[in-house]
Amino acid sequence: MAFREKGSKIIIKTPEQIEGIRKSSMLAGNTLNIVAPYVKEGVTTDYLNKICAEYINDNKAKAATLGYHGYPKETCISVNDVVCHGIPGKYELRDGDILNVDVTTILNGYFGDTSKMYTVGNVSEHAQKLIDVSRECLRIGIKQCFSGNRVGNIGYQINKYATSNGFSVVYEFCGHGVGIRFHEEPEISHVDEKNTGAVLLPGMIFTIEPMINAGKSRCKIDKNDGWTARTIDGKLSAQFEHTILVTESIPDILTDVDGEYPKK
Ligand code: MF3
Ligand code: CO
Ligand code: CO
Repeated sequence: MAFREKGSKIIIKTPEQIEGIRKSSMLAGNTLNIVAPYVKEGVTTDYLNKICAEYINDNKAKAATLGYHGYPKETCISVNDVVCHGIPGKYELRDGDILNVDVTTILNGYFGDTSKMYTVGNVSEHAQKLIDVSRECLRIGIKQCFSGNRVGNIGYQINKYATSNGFSVVYEFCGHGVGIRFHEEPEISHVDEKNTGAVLLPGMIFTIEPMINAGKSRCKIDKNDGWTARTIDGKLSAQFEHTILVTESIPDILTDVDGEYPKK
């Protein structure tokens, strides 16, 4: 069947693989909690990276980003107008900053991938709204993760919600299948068309990670480091990411260490 073609490369994980990916995902989620109390004015993003890296390594895991296509650090930390792939460095956090920390772990060969937003001191109402809408975009995408649904409905619903709130959705970076490798099929666009793309089936595991911009949706990559993606207009960007297992019933959010999503 033609419409299944794209889905044919999607790995259906075995119960054993699922349990391995679940453990790695929990570790990635826990890392985001471990670093939270260190997010303060004056702290460098390099220091936050160090806290995450030590926790991951102490738990017999590896950070998947380190050395990935030459990426130099164990996390991505994206501050203010950085959309994604911010490289931790000497930047000292300031009052009013918003930032995303993105952690991908490899535990016993299995990958878990998650990210969330943090705030420094007092942030503007506008910035807080952007964060809240981004969190809700992930939740809305996750609602579409049921067996038999088509992948395009995830991005369709996310884009509809974000734009109705006056924000734009990044289309240059996507969610992705994950678990056995870092980036697998399917690609999860956060700006997509209704009832298009692969059919979701139990045992599929992928991320949803919408990047929501306060202004224009376009990004530009830093010429010097080749990684840092910033908004084209310098306005704020926010992102949340979870690793999601499609089941026979409701989606199982493997990186949800805070119990934000129902389990049954
Ligand atoms: N963790 C990111 C994602 O959500 C990927 C980072 S790749 C890196 O897919 F090389 F930039 F680290
Ligand atoms: Co990801
Ligand atoms: Co990630």
